[in-house]
Amino acid sequence: MESIGSTISIRCLKTSMTRTCSIERMSNLKENSALTQANYIFVVQWYGKRSLIEFRWHCTYNMTGQPIPWLETRLRLITLKRDSQGICSQNLERFPPIHQWALLKLASLRYLGWMYIDIIESELRKGHFKEMYYIDLFSGPGISNIEDSSAVCYCSPLIVNDLQKQKNKRFTKMFLNDDDKERAEALQLCLDETATTKYEVTNKDANSCIQEIVPELSEKSHSLIFVDPYSTQFSWNSMKTILELDADIFFLFPTALMPWAVSVAKRPEADITNFFKECKKALEVFHNPAVRDNRSALFDLYKKDVEATRGPKTKMESVKIKGSNYYYDMLFVTKKTQVQRWWSGVTTLKSKIESYSSTDVDKTLKVILKEQSKLTDF
Ligand SMILES: C[S@@+](CC[C@H](N)C(=O)[O-])C[C@H]1O[C@@H](n2cnc3c(N)ncnc32)[C@H](O)[C@@H]1O
Repeated sequence: MESIGSTISIRCLKTSMTRTCSIERMSNLKENSALTQANYIFVVQWYGKRSLIEFRWHCTYNMTGQPIPWLETRLRLITLKRDSQGICSQNLERFPPIHQWALLKLASLRYLGWMYIDIIESELRKGHFKEMYYIDLFSGPGISNIEDSSAVCYCSPLIVNDLQKQKNKRFTKMFLNDDDKERAEALQLCLDETATTKYEVTNKDANSCIQEIVPELSEKSHSLIFVDPYSTQFSWNSMKTILELDADIFFLFPTALMPWAVSVAKRPEADITNFFKECKKALEVFHNPAVRDNRSALFDLYKKDVEATRGPKTKMESVKIKGSNYYYDMLFVTKKTQVQRWWSGVTTLKSKIESYSSTDVDKTLKVILKEQSKLTDF
């Protein structure tokens, strides 16, 4: 455990420079707490100046020793004031803002990505895998405005980029894609300024993109794949492709949109025709008068097909995210071999995220915006 006078190594996330600092003062923490180094707030000398370093990602206590709520800690990691310098200087107004409750999805990605990178990196060291990739097929522009708020948030690729820097552990490569040209270009700009690992931004349909990525993945590699479409754009064929990889998958199933997706099923271009393993069966389930909740029944059908395709080692969990009049289910798919270390984290995530409403997100954002000035500097 760190103490006053001991030396710690600190890396600046902006410049990636590392300095060794000695701890002058520490936050007032409860003595009997089972804390790790990352829970502290330190006062250290930084380039001759006295600086306050908060280990944001695990910070559970504030300077006076009061617990910081779980959601606040997580949202601090993925949000910035709109007028922050640097990567926020882009014109974000051209993209629609994200809903506040969508931050719960992004906070979940950060939480799971944090665990993933530790677990797979240790597998790399043991020689079980040679490379690890992050694949994000619906990546967004890098940074988004948040509706009804003066904050912006990192989109999925920047969240993963940021956590790699904080952990000083890297994916071999990040494959990022968005079929909207402007968004892909905005993302490229953000990463040109901030990325410290190899990455490629493409501007294709996600379903053709994944078929081009797969041959590039080396043998004995493992991937974290984030699939975050607006609705039913990700085809079953693409899902089958990723289920056959050594990969953990984080998929946003648009449960609340199912009635709409079914209503347009007759159109030739309808995504739902390709979205389910068997569209005919999905439509039967949806229209079955004996089914009480036909949206959930479709999600259950999807999960059954995922399990059958991935095989007996499948382990899945779903987490419901609720907006004021909308919701979706995040489906997390892994294999039983990785379950032990993953599962307690996934279960914690489920219990936390499902306990929040969009009002909780709104309140928490307001708290953060009052105080957030220096926390993003390191
Ligand atoms: C829900 S947003 C994803 C947001 C992003 N993951 C984030 O963290 O903010 C969906 C994104 O997918 C893109 N998109 C929609 N259809 C697509 C398709 N068929 N292939 C690739 N990207 C698509 C949209 O342009 C949009 O940026």
